[in-house]
Order: sequence, then structure tokens, then C-alpha cells
Amino acid sequence: MTQPPLTAQTALYAVLGDPVEHSLSPVFQNAALEAGGVDARYVALRMSPEELPDFLKGIRHSNIKGFNATIPHKEALVKLCDKLSKEAQLIGAVNTVSVKAGKLHGDNTDGAGFLESLTDEGKFDPKGKKVCLLGAGGSARAIGYSLAKAGAAQIVIANRTAPKARALADDLGAKVKKTKFSASSHRSSELSRAVEGADLLVNATSVGLGGRGIISLPWGVLPKPALIADIVYEPRLTPLLTEAKRRKYKILGGLGMLVHQGALSYEIWTGTKPDVAKMRKAADKALRDREG
Ligand code: ATR
Repeated sequence: MTQPPLTAQTALYAVLGDPVEHSLSPVFQNAALEAGGVDARYVALRMSPEELPDFLKGIRHSNIKGFNATIPHKEALVKLCDKLSKEAQLIGAVNTVSVKAGKLHGDNTDGAGFLESLTDEGKFDPKGKKVCLLGAGGSARAIGYSLAKAGAAQIVIANRTAPKARALADDLGAKVKKTKFSASSHRSSELSRAVEGADLLVNATSVGLGGRGIISLPWGVLPKPALIADIVYEPRLTPLLTEAKRRKYKILGGLGMLVHQGALSYEIWTGTKPDVAKMRKAADKALRDREG
């Protein structure tokens, strides 16, 4: 499909963050808008938390029809939106906002994006499975919630700061009663219990970003058919995935989650399904070019 030329009617979408200069979203969202023949463009806007409320006031009746939010805005938007989806309420964070008749609708597609990547690319169905989830921040919360909703039998949340793992396990456990949530620290004896018999291990921390760091794991007790997933997508092969691959585990990188959360945002904004394969190809190429 051909994309209409830029005019005064062209809609604008954006990703708001600070920093935001390295975001891949403009690359793959514009690829999708172009493929879909949508009269819209997508840009990155650097925005501080102090500037956000004024920005939100200004866009209600403008050509800005929606935006994605990244660090540090996801939690603040819960209070700043007029309406919230069930996911955004339960996760306590907003990554997608659509502007409809002057009102801001907040949604969260991070967890569902992870799940689509997991089932689509990872060929993994979490139903009835044991998961070890590393991290207890916003990403872990979204992923933990989505895995539980998808029927995971057991989720052990393992975090460096153990009380945060406990708090998240208690909170999610109260929201999705069918899944057994428990908490662990990163101490080796506790981590051993957390990964023992696990079908899936997810790194939902920022460890490994930029190719630096790895959380030390008791690999000996982690079953061989387990899938090792990382939400970090830069570099594509993080230290965790490199080690898992060396040990012959199945692996899943973070780029699929990024693209799928964006595809779900696109669907919320335009009411149509984007060409996810084209989005993925554009994201892959941008990352490859950057990695050199
Ligand atoms: P996000 O929104 O991406 O989840 P976040 O809410 O700041 O970001 O959470 C970051 C997560 O990465 C936390 O679980 C954090 O652990 P702590 O709660 O102990 O801080 C984890 N994390 C960051 N750096 C880490 C490191 N060097 N080792 C282990 N965990 C780390």
C-alpha cells in the first residue's frame, strides 16, 4: 500500500522517554504505518517528567493521536490518563496512550507483547509450566502478570532485592489465584530452588544491557529442555543468552517482545493489524546496522 503524503491532516504518533535517542520504535512503527498505507508518522520525543503534564494538556485536541511511553514515564501515566485498561491498572504502568475525543486512554502492551513473542517466536506455551522470573521491576510485573493469565502453574520471582520479589509475588498472587507465586533472592541456595525443574527462565532485569553483566545461575539444576528468554535486546546475544546457547539451551532474545508490544500499540491506535514481519525486519536491520 502507498502511504499518503504528509499533509496538515497527517496524524502523529510518538515514543516519549528520557533518554529516547536510541529507541528503535520510530524505525519499526514507521515501517508498519507505511506498509499499512496509514496517513501518520511516528517520532521520538525526549521529555522530562516535569514537562509531561504540560505536554499532555497540549495534545488533547491536536494531530497527536497516541504515543508509547518508556523510562521514566510508565508509572506516572497511571495517574495522568483519563481512563485505564484493565492491564494498565493491574500492572500499574502505562506504555501505550491513545487520544480519543480529548481523553487520554492508557494501556499496557508489554506483557502481552512478551507473550506473543514467547508463543510465536519461542514456540512456548506457558500453560501448566514452571517459570523462574529474574527481576521485580515494571517489566517483571507486566511479564509475570501475563504469564499467569496465560496459565503458568508456578512462577518464582527471583530478585536481587529480595523484599521486592516478595511484594511482587504477593501482589500478583492475589490478582491471579490459579498461579502459585513465590519469591526468591539471588543467593545461590535460593536460586537453585527457584530454577529447579523450571521450563522457562526469563531475565526481566536490565542486566546484560550493552553486553555487560550476567546474573550467576545454578545451571546444573536447570533442566536442559528449558527455554532461556531475555528482555534485553541490545546486544541481541546478551551474556545470558550466549552462555545459555553454549550450554545448548533454547534461547529467545528481547527484540520480539519490543516489536510485539509495538504491534499491539499500533493495533490500539489504528484499529488494524500491522505487518509484524515487516516491523521485525526493520527493527532487525536497524539493530544490525547499529551493531556494525
Ligand atoms: P524495568 O521497568 O525495566 O523493570 P526497574 O523497575 O528499574 O526497570 O527494575 C529493574 C530490575 O532490574 C530490578 O528488578 C532490579 O533489581 P533490584 O530490585 O534489586 O534493584 C534489577 N537489576 C538492575 N540491576 C541489577 C543488577 N546489577 N543485578 C541484579 N538485578 C539488577
